[in-house]
Amino acid sequence: MSIPIKNAEGIRRMREACSIAATVLAKMKEQVRPGITTYDLDQIGRELIASFGARSACYGYQLHASRYPAYTCLSVNEEVVHGIGSLKRILRQGDIISLDVVVEYNGYIGDNAVTVPVGPVAPRVAELLKVTEEALAIGIAQAQVGNRIGDISHAVQTYVEAAGFSVVREMVGHGVGQSMHEEPQIPNFGRKNSGEKIKPGMTLAIEPMVNLGRYAVRTLSDHWTVVTADGQPSAHFEHTVLTTDSGPEILTIPRAS
Ligand code: MF3
Ligand code: CO
Repeated sequence: MSIPIKNAEGIRRMREACSIAATVLAKMKEQVRPGITTYDLDQIGRELIASFGARSACYGYQLHASRYPAYTCLSVNEEVVHGIGSLKRILRQGDIISLDVVVEYNGYIGDNAVTVPVGPVAPRVAELLKVTEEALAIGIAQAQVGNRIGDISHAVQTYVEAAGFSVVREMVGHGVGQSMHEEPQIPNFGRKNSGEKIKPGMTLAIEPMVNLGRYAVRTLSDHWTVVTADGQPSAHFEHTVLTTDSGPEILTIPRAS
């Protein structure tokens, strides 16, 4: 098994899929406010994805016995990832929500996520969001040709732990392209100079999941929603990145509108 390298045509299609994923995410973000349900947000995501002629890569995705039943992943507060939109989940001021959008367009997949506050949030929670977003940038900066995947992992972990937060162990970033999950796995913890060598033409979904408290997580009986074991909040930021000889290029940038 090896890490897929995209050719010029693959890269062109990755750019399109990723810019759609980013535009959908940006527009969903604008709809986050107290009083909206996560079901409504997911429906907004479904409509936006369809408006670009794209398909949700999450809907129907089979991980174990069950298929993912929603179009986007919406995870509130102690939910880490893979939260399922629900009419019962009404956002309130002080909540945080992670929006994770994965779309397929023309055979290629773009994957990105952000966590946003719902109105003002507690200072330590605001810090969690800031540190997680910065950890993503620091991880991306390590996605240099000649580095190894572990350099990304190590940079993320070091930065997050220095700020007093913890990185989730059970879920990891990943290669992305014609499938949502390709090689390599990209943990948010690890050793420098370990793992596969980074070459030009890799498309990598780098995605720190950071807990305010301890790193342990568990999965709810819906088979999908991953929550922190200690019930404390968690944040998640993700970009799909292309590796090039002149450095990493973030592909999940919204279209100019
Ligand atoms: N960004 C998430 C991932 O890489 C999206 C998962 S979609 C789901 O795992 F269908 F698995 F929920
Ligand atoms: Co991902």
